[in-house]
Amino acid sequence: MATQTQQNKQPPLQVAIIGAGIGGLALAVGLLHQGVPFTLYEAAKCFSTVGAGVGLGPNALRAMEEIQPGFRKLYGSISSGNVTPGKDHAMMDALLVEEGFGEKRGWKPVSYGAACYERTSAHRKDLLDIITGSIPKENLRFGKRVTTLSQTDRGVVIAFEDGEFAEASCAVGSDGVKGMSRGVVLGERWPELVNATYTGRYVYRAVIPMQKAMKIMSKDLDGHERAGDAKMFMGDQCIIVTFPISKGKECNMVCFKMDDKPWMYHEWTKPVTKDLMLSDISELGVDRRLVKLLEFANPVQWALHDHLATPTYFSGRVCLLGDSAHATLPHQAAGAGQCIEDALVLSRLLGLVSSPNQLETAFSVYDGIRRPRAQRVVRTSREAGDICALKAPGIGDDMDKIVANQCQRYLWIWEHDLLDDVVRAESEFRSRTGKETPGQQPTGSLVLAVAV
Ligand SMILES: Cc1cc2nc3c(=O)[nH]c(=O)nc-3n(C[C@H](O)[C@H](O)[C@H](O)COP(=O)(O)OP(=O)(O)OC[C@H]3O[C@@H](n4cnc5c(N)ncnc54)[C@H](O)[C@@H]3O)c2cc1C
Ligand SMILES: *[C@@H]1O[C@H](CO)[C@@H](O)[C@H](O)[C@H]1NC(C)=O
Repeated sequence: MATQTQQNKQPPLQVAIIGAGIGGLALAVGLLHQGVPFTLYEAAKCFSTVGAGVGLGPNALRAMEEIQPGFRKLYGSISSGNVTPGKDHAMMDALLVEEGFGEKRGWKPVSYGAACYERTSAHRKDLLDIITGSIPKENLRFGKRVTTLSQTDRGVVIAFEDGEFAEASCAVGSDGVKGMSRGVVLGERWPELVNATYTGRYVYRAVIPMQKAMKIMSKDLDGHERAGDAKMFMGDQCIIVTFPISKGKECNMVCFKMDDKPWMYHEWTKPVTKDLMLSDISELGVDRRLVKLLEFANPVQWALHDHLATPTYFSGRVCLLGDSAHATLPHQAAGAGQCIEDALVLSRLLGLVSSPNQLETAFSVYDGIRRPRAQRVVRTSREAGDICALKAPGIGDDMDKIVANQCQRYLWIWEHDLLDDVVRAESEFRSRTGKETPGQQPTGSLVLAVAV
């Protein structure tokens, strides 16, 4: 039996998470470990795994291991590195997308990476599987598209497309770059910053059986399979990235096409004919082996948008997490990592919240710690995009300078001290809520939570 002395009884905390991408799922696992009640609402009927390959840097892996101890081991069982031995720390081999990969200009492929970096990529589906494995089914609601979020003095009221309503103490909008929660947070004060910005590039994406990819790409002069190791083929009109996924059984390809016109199509994915897709790329003088790989792609142009400026990640009891806050160009392969870092910091803060009236303080501390770093990733990913498009100021198409830049530019992302973020977040929350630090004697009237 529980005996409780409660004064100023507060309703129990109930967090609504909107969107079950990597960000929302990582937060769900974090809240599960912190004992914070939540419900995750996802518009789709099941997890969406569009986009195939995703690579996690050392910061992303550390953050996920902190959220879910044992994650790294699971990730090891689904991720793939370079096939060539001794290239564990090589992020990419730098080449040119033009016929002959730059050999005609005398360029010999060079790898870039760092000692702290371990080359790995996974299939999105496998990644979501190992994250969702621990979330109880009753906390997940699929087929629930949120249409409006309104704030009341008791929390938030969530309306769904199917006519249902739900209440929660707060909502975390992890509904992606096109999500509706961003409008709720920014719409009144910064209407011009709600919509994401077209970055002037779209991608075609392919997953190719590794045997076929190796046959098409053949071996390089050193006798290594070109398709077996992660590669960045740079060019001013087109950039192509290939890397192994699915334990080396498949090769993931992302083909970026520069586009100087505004995106006019009413959707962000535009189906085209296969012929149009192939001529769109082959007419740029792209190496014919890469065009052959492109034959495996979905003939869909996927427009890339980002959120360069986001003046706040929260408003009242609604908070943004992941791409809804800081969608980024993928040129630093760092977007998902920032979603996971958000989830780490926010789940720890929500774990400290003992009454709903502390939620805004938790969101404000999260905003102060996460926003500068995540927005810097968005900014520098644009720079990285310019570098790979051979048009960065002072670098241009000088491949030696490009490689030198690539060897340095990720260190602040990868080596960041995440535990320090968590410690700073927790201590700032405690000082702003007047909460005792552990070890101190609690004072005043306290809520006794007694297990039955
Ligand atoms: C080509 C490309 C390559 C990339 N490669 C990498 C990489 O190698 N490494 C890396 O770290 N990052 C990479 N990224 C970035 C990474 O994919 C994203 O940062 C990450 O997937 C975003 O996750 P998210 O959970 O914020 O949003 P999303 O994955 O977009 O998930 C949002 C979810 O919310 C749901 N939703 C939307 N609206 C509603 C609503 N109204 N109600 C309910 N649910 C809703 C959606 O259905 C979806 O499931 C890449 C991105 C691109 C485009
Ligand atoms: C944002 O996008 C929506 C939908 O595409 C559009 O209707 C609206 O006008 C845009 N808002 C701004 C400020 O550009």
